[in-house]
Amino acid sequence: MSTRTLKIAISTGGGDAPGLNAVIRAAVRAAKSRGWDIFGVRNGYSGLLDTDDLIELNADKVNRIHSRGGTIIGTTNKGNPFEYPVKNVAGEVEVRDLSDKVMENFRRLRFHALIAVGGDGSLNIAHRFAEKGMNVIGVPKTIDNDLSGTAITFGLDTASATATDALDKLETTARSHERVFVVEVMGRYAGWIALESGVAGGANAILIPEIPFDLEKVANHILDLDVHGQKYAIVVCAEGAVPRGGAMMIKGAAEDGRQEVVLGGIAEWVAKELHRLTGKDTRHLVLGHLQRGGSPTRFDRLLGTRFGAAAIRFIEQGLFDHMVALDPPTVKAIPLTEAVSRMKQVPLDSDTVLTARDIDICLGD
Ligand code: F6P
Repeated sequence: MSTRTLKIAISTGGGDAPGLNAVIRAAVRAAKSRGWDIFGVRNGYSGLLDTDDLIELNADKVNRIHSRGGTIIGTTNKGNPFEYPVKNVAGEVEVRDLSDKVMENFRRLRFHALIAVGGDGSLNIAHRFAEKGMNVIGVPKTIDNDLSGTAITFGLDTASATATDALDKLETTARSHERVFVVEVMGRYAGWIALESGVAGGANAILIPEIPFDLEKVANHILDLDVHGQKYAIVVCAEGAVPRGGAMMIKGAAEDGRQEVVLGGIAEWVAKELHRLTGKDTRHLVLGHLQRGGSPTRFDRLLGTRFGAAAIRFIEQGLFDHMVALDPPTVKAIPLTEAVSRMKQVPLDSDTVLTARDIDICLGD
């Protein structure tokens, strides 16, 4: 074990995911057991621009937080220091590169390394800081599970469990009223939450971005169920699902420092169209941020804890510009560039897709 006292920073960036606090707690405990100092950077990288807001972390501050959702140090999906929105004297918003300021603060405060917990956006930024000479180790988080190089990210399990629970609840009301329910779940351009919750929750149709859907096929499936005595249906629709030949539905623009558009609206459209095509009473429901909230599942707590401790071990080994990744049964480090180079979508030959087809779940194709 190292005898040098190191000073470490940890930040959480992008949309929160259940399991973030487990990472923080594990990193703090593992750092403290080595006699290191560790500070929380508030609200993603923004806390390295305004350094008055750093939080010194210790065992007391992280006591029992592993079971809590959210992140105790805050997060944001705005504020990329390389493209930071700043108001000029005329009151107009200008985009400036403040990354040198971050580097200056990092060095002035004598940080040895940063643990950057985030999704593709935050980890891309982490790599850019590594190129500028910062010792960075990434930790993958996202309910979307769209990061390459790791078997899974924490957050997906809790989000899918929440969605599955919602499907169980909807089934009873759908059955009673003989209605079709279309449930929109998150996941951005990947269908992991939709597929996993849909199969586990007994959906009749699952629409994911990886398989452009033909609504007539979904409508026929619902009518077929009706003929065979099932008068209701549950359709799970990923927010990024697209009709064949159509476009992804966008609810909000990438603006004010936000890097990504906000997806949404597809379930409402699907519900309307299914009503037209089947004549059935149809409702839609958007699960939204409920999927990001609540106490993490055992799986997400454990994975977050393993990732947090591994990040400290990799810092000890001097392994930077890498990301902690799950490669069952172990946790390893892979180059950050590898993790962010490709989005991980659901493979169409994956066992869960084959299973869905085998058990007569319509995938819209
Ligand atoms: O990336 C996580 C995620 O929850 C996506 O599934 C969703 O599209 C997006 O973030 C929502 O972002 P916001 O919290 O800014 O509405």
